[in-house]
Amino acid sequence: MSLRIVRTVKRHLSSAAAISPGSLSSPIQLTCRRCLSSDQVFELEHKYGAHNYHPLEVALQRGEGVFVWDCENRRYYDFLSAYSAVNQGHCHPRIYRVLCEQAKKLTLTSRAFYSDALGEFSHYITQLFGYERWLPMNTGVEGGETACKLARRWGYDRKGIERYRGKIVFAEGNFWGRSLSAVSSSTDASSYAGFGPFMPGFEIIPYDDLDALDKITRDPQVCAFMVEPIQGEAGVVVPKDGYLKGVRDICTKNNVLWIADEVQTGLGRTGKRLACDHEGVKPDILILGKALSGGFYPVSGVLANDDVMLTIKPGEHGSTYGGNPLGCRIAMEALGVLEDERLAENAEKLGHLLRGELSKLPRDVVKVVRGKGLLNAIVIDEKIDAMDVCRQLKDEGLLAKPTHGHIIRLAPPLCIDEQQIKECADIIGRVIKRQSP
Ligand SMILES: Cc1ncc(COP(=O)(O)O)c(C=O)c1O
Repeated sequence: MSLRIVRTVKRHLSSAAAISPGSLSSPIQLTCRRCLSSDQVFELEHKYGAHNYHPLEVALQRGEGVFVWDCENRRYYDFLSAYSAVNQGHCHPRIYRVLCEQAKKLTLTSRAFYSDALGEFSHYITQLFGYERWLPMNTGVEGGETACKLARRWGYDRKGIERYRGKIVFAEGNFWGRSLSAVSSSTDASSYAGFGPFMPGFEIIPYDDLDALDKITRDPQVCAFMVEPIQGEAGVVVPKDGYLKGVRDICTKNNVLWIADEVQTGLGRTGKRLACDHEGVKPDILILGKALSGGFYPVSGVLANDDVMLTIKPGEHGSTYGGNPLGCRIAMEALGVLEDERLAENAEKLGHLLRGELSKLPRDVVKVVRGKGLLNAIVIDEKIDAMDVCRQLKDEGLLAKPTHGHIIRLAPPLCIDEQQIKECADIIGRVIKRQSP
């Protein structure tokens, strides 16, 4: 790096003045030497970033536990938890310590070599969830891709489906990311429209419909059914009791793999270690991500037994960063925190309390309260603008975001305590009552 570039970078790091005032339309008002104002943050993203998100107008610069702070140092309860990635709370000190220790030692080897972390982590995670093997990736969508590849390969090599005729079944309203495969299975036009041609061999059935599942999986070309135990992005859609057990039975009966996408519902979020644990059933392929790193680093992957996992041979699947030592150590600690702090139990207990409080809200505004553990949503009257409600919640110190139209997801970090839940229910109550006609 030339000396000039080094100096420029240092200046950027040491002062917001490195963002030239002339390049922004509003005057720079520094609140501290190293922070941009919220308006400057909005403007920079808007000007230089792709417009592929529609964020709430809040610019965050710090987080701790259940709280985040904006550039003006205003504090908020985080009721999104980065889409359930920070179940352990923001910047958990135990995970932070492990991150620093490992970052000093070894961060990435690729899978061309062994590292001293992946085997240990694979042992730990397989024991914890009761599977024979672990295949590491980075993001949730890569976990889904991995599961689909495994399912097709299993279909050809084990079930005897004619090559390249295999089908994977998904449920209406599914969400598993933004890759072309993921949007090929989507029933949400804002995800798929304008991105075809789509992945062949994907079939859709209604969610929470066991008859439809039984009918479609009798087709001998079906390798797998992939489903979320609760549909998060669709608006925290909770299926009827017994659905997951029914899925397990039908998939077994029709010799089809059941893939559970627990990227959002897993790791304590719904009040159990896995949402599937509510019905005591075990999928053939389990996809995990998000909270696997407690928000520190992208870590995802799939768990399966030998008959499925060993169908993929060396060179047939992988990722440069997947299974890297930094991610492995972070994930081991993040799982340890969930277990040691009994965060699933806390989610179960406080979820009941939260839903109890929410169900007292005026019915002309809140039409439905639903969820499990601390993955919850309120469905508000269609005439009310949900984004506007979220803006008002923000002004009262609580951050939440609509999932679909008039559905607002309420999913705080699982380390939240009883008094904080009550305070948050009060905030939500105040804002909701204001919407009453
Ligand atoms: C159920 C589910 N699966 C997969 C994903 C994709 O995860 P990522 O955004 O890390 O690719 C998401 C993201 O919200 C999700 O909710």
